[in-house]
Amino acid sequence: MEKLVVLSGAGISAESGISTFRDKGGLWEEHDIMEVASPEGWERNQKLVQRFYNERRRQLLDCEPNRAHKALVELEKYFDVEIITQNIDDLHERAGSKKVTHLHGELRKAQSTKYPDLVYEIEGWEIGDDDRCEKGFQLRPHVVWFGEPVPAMEAAIEIASRADIFVVVGTSLNVYPAAGLLDYVPSGTPLYLIDPGEVQYRGQSGINVIREKAGTGCAVLFEKLTGDQLPF
Ligand code: APR
Repeated sequence: MEKLVVLSGAGISAESGISTFRDKGGLWEEHDIMEVASPEGWERNQKLVQRFYNERRRQLLDCEPNRAHKALVELEKYFDVEIITQNIDDLHERAGSKKVTHLHGELRKAQSTKYPDLVYEIEGWEIGDDDRCEKGFQLRPHVVWFGEPVPAMEAAIEIASRADIFVVVGTSLNVYPAAGLLDYVPSGTPLYLIDPGEVQYRGQSGINVIREKAGTGCAVLFEKLTGDQLPF
C-alpha cells in the first residue's frame, strides 16, 4: 500500500468545537502564549498554567471527532496512513486512526517536572496542584512548550521522508520545526493542502490546494485519491 502521510493542525479540530490558535478569536488572542505555553510561564505561575490546560482538557471531554478525522480513518482502507499532528487533543485516536505521532504532546497526559520521560494518563480532566510522579515530583501537562525540544521530530522526519502522498490539513505552518516537515517530503511527491484560509508555505511547487474547511476538504481529497465517494 502507498504511504499517505498527513500533517494536521488545530484547524482539523475546529469543526469539533476546539479553538484554533491564530484565527480571529483564537486561543492566542485570549491568552499570552508566554504566560501559558512556555517554561518561563510555568515557573512564574504554575497554578495559571495548570488551570489553562485543565480547562482545555475539560472542554475536550465534550468534543467528538469530526468528519475530517473520520475521513482519514476511512483512507486507511486504501493507504498506509500515518498522521503527524501538532494537536494535543486525542480526536485522531478517538476517530480510529492507528498511527498518530504527536509533535507537541498530548493534553490527556501528564509528565513529571523532574523526569519528563515519566508520563501518565490523566483520569478525568484535572492535574491537581499536588499531583506527583512516582518519584514525588510535581506533575505538569505533557505538552511541548515554546522553547522546549520536540522529541518526536526525528520520528516525524523519518515518516515524512517515506511519504508517497503528503497532506497538510488545518495548520497555518507558522511553527517550526513542525512546519519544516515539508522540507523532508521527497521531491515529486503529490502534495495537498486543505485549509479555508490562505496559507503561506515555502518552497514546494505544485501543491494541490483544497480551499475548504477540513470536513469538506477531506471528503474532496478522499474522492481525488480513491475515486470513491466518502461513505458519510
Ligand atoms: N478546517 C480546516 N482548517 C481550518 C479551519 C477548518 N474548519 N478553521 C481554521 N482553519 C485553519 C486556519 O486557516 C489556519 O491555517 O487552521 C489553521 C490554524 O492555524 P493555527 O491556529 O496557527 O494552528 P496550528 O497551525 O495548528 O498551530 C501550530 O502553534 O501555538 C502552537 O503548539 C501550538 O500546535 C500549535 C502550533
